[in-house]
Amino acid sequence: MSDDRSFEGKTLLITGANRGLGAALVEAAFARGAAKIYCGARDVARFGSALDPFGGRAVPVALDVTDDAQVAVAAKLGDIDIVISNAGVTHMVPLLETTLDGARATMETNFFGPLRLVYAFGPQLEARGGGFISILSLAALVPAHGAELYSASKAAGTMLGHAVRGAMPNVAVSLAYPGLMDTDMMRSTDFAKTSPQEIAANILDGWASGETALFPDLHSQYLRDAFVARPAEVLTDPYALMRDALLRYLEAKS
Ligand SMILES: NC(=O)c1ccc[n+]([C@@H]2O[C@H](COP(=O)([O-])OP(=O)(O)OC[C@H]3O[C@@H](n4cnc5c(N)ncnc54)[C@H](OP(=O)(O)O)[C@@H]3O)[C@@H](O)[C@H]2O)c1
Repeated sequence: MSDDRSFEGKTLLITGANRGLGAALVEAAFARGAAKIYCGARDVARFGSALDPFGGRAVPVALDVTDDAQVAVAAKLGDIDIVISNAGVTHMVPLLETTLDGARATMETNFFGPLRLVYAFGPQLEARGGGFISILSLAALVPAHGAELYSASKAAGTMLGHAVRGAMPNVAVSLAYPGLMDTDMMRSTDFAKTSPQEIAANILDGWASGETALFPDLHSQYLRDAFVARPAEVLTDPYALMRDALLRYLEAKS
C-alpha cells in the first residue's frame, strides 16, 4: 500500500451498500473525498433514490457475494483502490437448533463471500497498492451466545484478513470488529446500539490513520479492553469476556 491512506480521489467498492452500515459507509466515504463508489447490492432497485445526491459518482452494481458470476463481472470494473467487504447475514440460532443448511448459508455469505472478493480483487489491489477493509464483528473474537455459528463465520473472516496480509503485502488490510449497531440486523434486540453513521466514520478514519484492527464503538472497545487485559480467557472462558464487555457497555449507556 502506498503511504496515501486518504479517501481523497479514490475509487471504492462497497458490498451490501443499499442499507445499514453499507449505506452509511457510502455517505462517509464521499464525505471524505472519495471520487467514485461502486455500490454493491443484491438488487440494485433497492437503492431507490438513495444514490441520487451523489450523482454519477455513486455507481450501483448488481453484486450478490454468493454469486461467482456477479463477482467476476464486478472484478472487471478495474479501477478500484479500496474494497470494503460489508455484506453479511446474521444467524442468531442456538447451536442445537442450527442445521447444516443454515450453517452453510451463513458461511456462504460471511466467509465465502469475502473470499470470492479476495480472489477476484486481490491481484488488482496488490498491483495498485490498494486497501481491503473487512467488516467482521466483535463476535469474531469471542463467541456470541446463541449465535455461535455467526461468530464462527466472522472468526473465519479474521483469519482470511490475516491471510490477505500475508499473501499481499501491498494491500492495506483493516479488520473491523463493530459491536451492537442500530441496523435492521439487530432490530430484534432492545439493547442500546451505536448508529451505523458513527461506526462508519470511525472505521474509515481508523483505516485512514493506519489502524489494522478497528474497534469503532464503545461496545467493541470494551471487548478489546477485556480481550487485552485477560488474554488467557480467550482460551479458557471467552464467554466471560463477551459478557463483561456487554455489561460494562450497558452500564455506560444507562
Ligand atoms: N448490526 C450489528 O449489530 C452488527 C454488528 C457487528 C457487525 N455487523 C456486520 O456489519 C455488516 C453490515 O451489517 P448491517 O448491520 O448493516 O446489516 P443489515 O442492515 O442487515 O444489512 C446487511 C447488508 O448486507 C447485504 N447482503 C446480505 N447478503 C448478501 C449477499 N449474499 N450479497 C450481497 N449483499 C448481501 C444486505 O442486502 P439485502 O438488502 O439484499 O438483504 C444488506 O445490504 C455485516 O457484515 C454484519 O455482520 C453488524
